[in-house]
Amino acid sequence: MVLTGASGFVGSNIAKVLSDVHGDDVITDRVDLFDADAIGRHVASAGADGVIHCAIVNDWDRMLADRHWAWDAYVSSTRAYAEAALGVGAGFVLVSTDWVFDGTQGPATEDEPPNPVNLYGFLKASAELVTLERNGAVARVSGVNGTHWSRPTTPRAQDPGFGYFVASLVAALEAGQPFTVWEADDINMVASPSLASMCGEVMRAILGQDQNGIFHCCGADSVTRRELAYAAADVFDLDRGLLRFAPPPERTPMPIPYDTSLDASATAERLGYPLPGLRELLTAFRTERHKGRVTSFLA
Ligand SMILES: NC(=O)c1ccc[n+]([C@@H]2O[C@H](COP(=O)([O-])OP(=O)(O)OC[C@H]3O[C@@H](n4cnc5c(N)ncnc54)[C@H](OP(=O)(O)O)[C@@H]3O)[C@@H](O)[C@H]2O)c1
Repeated sequence: MVLTGASGFVGSNIAKVLSDVHGDDVITDRVDLFDADAIGRHVASAGADGVIHCAIVNDWDRMLADRHWAWDAYVSSTRAYAEAALGVGAGFVLVSTDWVFDGTQGPATEDEPPNPVNLYGFLKASAELVTLERNGAVARVSGVNGTHWSRPTTPRAQDPGFGYFVASLVAALEAGQPFTVWEADDINMVASPSLASMCGEVMRAILGQDQNGIFHCCGADSVTRRELAYAAADVFDLDRGLLRFAPPPERTPMPIPYDTSLDASATAERLGYPLPGLRELLTAFRTERHKGRVTSFLA
């Protein structure tokens, strides 16, 4: 399996669950997203039967300032990987996001048409189209929880989405410190949590079953930031009294979708697994955090 972005948050989880739980050979070489020829050569020489494209540039300021750079990073790189995969008869999965929706479409099913409200969502929706037109699969991940296996700490404590949120909250409460949960009308306030390692297993199932089309990688439940914070405190046996609620200190430079709840029932039915509930996902995250090993949901 070729995996891009393996040093990142989501990618490090995909790599870990595929190699540790399933014993897969995961090829994680870093090939520059802007070098389509190198991407083609890499996939052609890897001899893999599947490609998961997870890498992205995460520099919002530069993306807004240089639209050509952003387009190449997201859309052209996806085209290069999807075509390279097609060329060698390998399956292709693009890792995408619930932010392709506008924040009023939840619970969005797999066939709900995207309506992105910011540049990131537009680029991901465009990359999705490029993927689908090349017979590939789109795996939308949402409300992503998990351990960053390539870094000792998360790069941010919290952001306008749900990424890093529970890990940071748990770290603060375990240290007996308060944690402020952001709440505001102009950030992502409702989403469907997932566990990054579980998302990796869904992608593996897509490739293993030779599927294409759109898939939603998340659990069965949609929650507010506050509901998720309380559930995490309870599952980790931590003090809810240390939670605070306040708006983020700064406004974000682009519009953010408010409610990005996803319905993943068609994905679970197509691939043949039971959708985990929020507590099940958080319990698996607790095991992962305390024991250093990921749980299998689809083995
Ligand atoms: N995190 C979330 O909450 C979330 C939510 C929804 C969807 N997603 C999706 O999940 C995927 C991964 O996101 P993430 O949060 O895990 O990102 P991340 O932690 O920022 O990781 C980005 C990865 O891309 C690589 N990369 C960056 N620039 C590159 C370049 N020019 N050439 C090759 N590789 C490059 C990075 O490698 P280096 O470290 O070597 O630069 C890193 O491995 C994305 O497709 C994103 O849209 C994430």
